Formats: sequence, C-alpha cells, structure tokens
Amino acid sequence: MPLAATGDLVATAAAEHRAVAAFNVITLEHAEAIVEGAERAGTPVILQISENAVKFHHGRPGPLARAAAEAAQQAGVRVALHLDHVHSASLLHQAADCGFSSVMFDASRLPYEENVAATRSAALWAHRHGLWVEAELGQVGGKNGEEPLDAHAPGARTDPDEARAYVEATGVDALAVAVGSSHAMTARTARLDHGLLGRLSEALDLPLVLHGSSGVPDAELRQAVTGGISKINIGTALNTAMTSAVRAHLADDPRAVDPRGYLGLGRTAMSRTVAAFVGVLEGAAAPVVAQAPAR
Ligand code: G3H
Ligand code: ZN
Repeated sequence: MPLAATGDLVATAAAEHRAVAAFNVITLEHAEAIVEGAERAGTPVILQISENAVKFHHGRPGPLARAAAEAAQQAGVRVALHLDHVHSASLLHQAADCGFSSVMFDASRLPYEENVAATRSAALWAHRHGLWVEAELGQVGGKNGEEPLDAHAPGARTDPDEARAYVEATGVDALAVAVGSSHAMTARTARLDHGLLGRLSEALDLPLVLHGSSGVPDAELRQAVTGGISKINIGTALNTAMTSAVRAHLADDPRAVDPRGYLGLGRTAMSRTVAAFVGVLEGAAAPVVAQAPAR
C-alpha cells in the first residue's frame, strides 16, 4: 500500500470525531512494532520521527525515515510518516525528500511574536513543498528532560483567543495545544483541562493535537478525543515497554549476546502497547496496562 498522507489520516479522523495515534520511532524495531500493533488493531497509524531521534542517528534523517517508510508501505493498514518537533530549518528542508508528508514545527518556546514569525515562514516553505504542518502554541512541558511546567506558569495552557489569532497568522494545518499533558511521563497520572479543550475546540476550526499522551490515562484520552483532539502523540510508553522487556531478559540471562533475543522481546512489547493504545482510542479495547511481555 502506498504511504498515506498525515493530513488525510487526521482529516478523516477529525471528520469522524475520532483520533489517529502517532507513535515516535527511534529504532527500526519501533517502526516494525508500530506497524504490527496497528495491523493487529486494524487501524491507520502515523509513524513520527523527532528531531531528537534524528540527532541520535548522527543528524541524518534518511536511513531511519526511509526504513520507516518501507515498513509503512508494506503494512496492511494505512500508515503515514511525520517529522516531529522540528526546530531546525535545515532539517525541515530535508523532510520532503525522506518520505515525510508532514512536519511539526516547534517554536513554542519563543515569545508569541517570534513563534508566529518562525512558524509562518516554516509553514510557507512546507506548503510550497507539499507538506502538512502542525505547530504548537503554549508549551507542553517535559521536553528534553525538563520538569513539567506548573499549571499556572506562563504558557502552560493555550489561550483560545491567542490560538485563533496564531492559526490565522501562521496558516498552519493543525495545532498542538497545552491542556495539562506533559512529555516523558512514565506514570499515567496526567489530568487534562477538558473545559479549556472545549473552549479551544469551539474557537478553532482545525485539528487539535495532544502531545505527551503516554502520561494520560485511558479515560482522559477518550474524553480528549470526544472533546476535539484528532491526533494523539505517544512516545515514552513504547520506550517503557521496550526497555522493561530488554531489562528483564538480560537480567534473566546475563550471558545473552545476540541482540535479536532482547530486541525481539522489546519489539513484541511495543507492538502490544501500540495495539492497546489504538484500541483505547477506538473505545473498544482493554486498558493499557501490561507493558512488559509475557515470558
Ligand atoms: O511528540 C511526541 C509526543 O508528544 C510524545 O510524548 O513521549 O510523553 O508520550 P510522550
Ligand atoms: Zn510532543
């Protein structure tokens, strides 16, 4: 099946008042696990590679992106490829050549006017090159090992009026909103501000994106989808699943040296996590609980 376009998957989900899950890819095993989990659930999915993941791969997006694109094309469900949390213009400019149909340009740390200027110029470039663009206003905390923002800290919540002006000024296709989730949580204890999400959804006429969804409990995720979120970004939960499986295997067998043994278990654990999250979003599955594999 040819690569799907992120914009199409999100637009379809939004029209059906559903959300499409977007999972972070760091290694080939992540991409394989995400595709396998989505196939098991029978739903479309987005593979997303962040600027941080590109840095891990020596700053070269091509090898991982092309491998992920190949895994996507061989999938039995529709899969799109998205470039996530991009700060660097030079990485943005490589996106279209590596199979990405979309990019999240992240200038959320900048003061409002600078965020608008940087995002407008990124969106202009991206649209000229056929890319769908997501941006962030307000700050979803916890990036790069930082502490989550206090709920009352400036920028910790997206203001609906400011968001309307921002979307108009930048021309972006989707907006990541700060409504109480935070990146890199390993416990699912986040509480979302559903009242604010309702006001944002009312004020804006474009798909809304929830970042830091690993820390958001099942019921909160479902309520967020009902409240207008159309794309749900999940990363840390896969890493927790993978690392728990690898750690348990190596602890059990300190003489193990073949990476296929532990990476295979890590991949299986991630694919189960993917299927569970996707099932939660579809409203039909068991809760996301077990992240370590049965052995
Ligand atoms: O953009 C990626 C996501 O926001 C992932 O966040 O690792 O906390 O699930 P997470
Ligand atoms: Zn994020």
